[in-house]
Amino acid sequence: MANNLATAIIGTGFMGPVHTEALRRLGVQVYGILGSSPEKSRRAAETLGFAKAYSDYNEVLSDKAIQVIHITTPNRFHFEQASQALKAGKHVLCEKPLAMTTQESSALVDLATQCEVAAGVNYNIRYYPLNIEARSRILTGELGAINSIYGSYVQDWLLYPTDYNWRVLAEEGGTLRAVADIGTHWLDLVQTITGLEVASVCANLKTVHPIRQRPEGEIETFSGQVRDIETTESVEIQTDDSGAVLLRFKGGAHRFSVGLSGYLGTQKLPPL
Ligand SMILES: NC(=O)c1ccc[n+]([C@@H]2O[C@H](COP(=O)([O-])OP(=O)(O)OC[C@H]3O[C@@H](n4cnc5c(N)ncnc54)[C@H](O)[C@@H]3O)[C@@H](O)[C@H]2O)c1
Repeated sequence: MANNLATAIIGTGFMGPVHTEALRRLGVQVYGILGSSPEKSRRAAETLGFAKAYSDYNEVLSDKAIQVIHITTPNRFHFEQASQALKAGKHVLCEKPLAMTTQESSALVDLATQCEVAAGVNYNIRYYPLNIEARSRILTGELGAINSIYGSYVQDWLLYPTDYNWRVLAEEGGTLRAVADIGTHWLDLVQTITGLEVASVCANLKTVHPIRQRPEGEIETFSGQVRDIETTESVEIQTDDSGAVLLRFKGGAHRFSVGLSGYLGTQKLPPL
């Protein structure tokens, strides 16, 4: 079946080529690509070997050859692009975080439930072999009762005030940054491994660099471009560079810890 699903990739930055490669390894037909301009679509199609370069999103939506849309654009586009794709009857895989707010995410979940298509968010880390192994050990009871769990997700990208990407602006990536961008992977992982759901949170968020230097033009993720300080402007930052989150899980024990951490009881796990 996978081979018959023609897919369009939306976004030509860091994750667009990652999805393309992953789909090809699975034997899925990656047919067309859309960038932020017709020229970017054309260049990406050429570099990545796509048959079709789209000029705009409507062209993707109305393309009957396409059954699946993978959304790898910056967060602020997810809600609109995923909603339109679902309404157009396309299967959707959207990058995390699903949307900019919980209201938007919830509306998308409702819409996906009503539409007769498959819809998912790309929480890839839960599928790494060691994580599947950890989940399986909990499922079989090998680990015994789990009373607490803690961990962290650190990344040195965006470490300096001269580092810049669309994610640092609330209007581009959402008001939460470190927690919504990488902490969200940790939260998904822990909930998947244990089968428990977060019931409440207490968080301390910190903006380490309240002013960053924005270079002219677009900086794609991990592009490693060296920037000339002369061509930047100072921008005020309100999103979090780091966060410590204390979690209580449904049915979990109430304990205390520091870091991106949670406290768990054990329960039967649902399928992955
Ligand atoms: N699952 C993961 O491990 C993982 C890792 C990195 C990023 N992400 C997610 O992927 C998404 C993209 O992140 P990225 O790091 O690839 O960003 P990026 O900036 O490198 O790439 C985004 C691309 O989208 C293009 N774009 C912008 N507006 C567009 C539009 N309207 N139509 C088509 N293309 C448009 C940009 O030109 C850019 O090329 C984000 O939501 C991010 O959270 C997920």
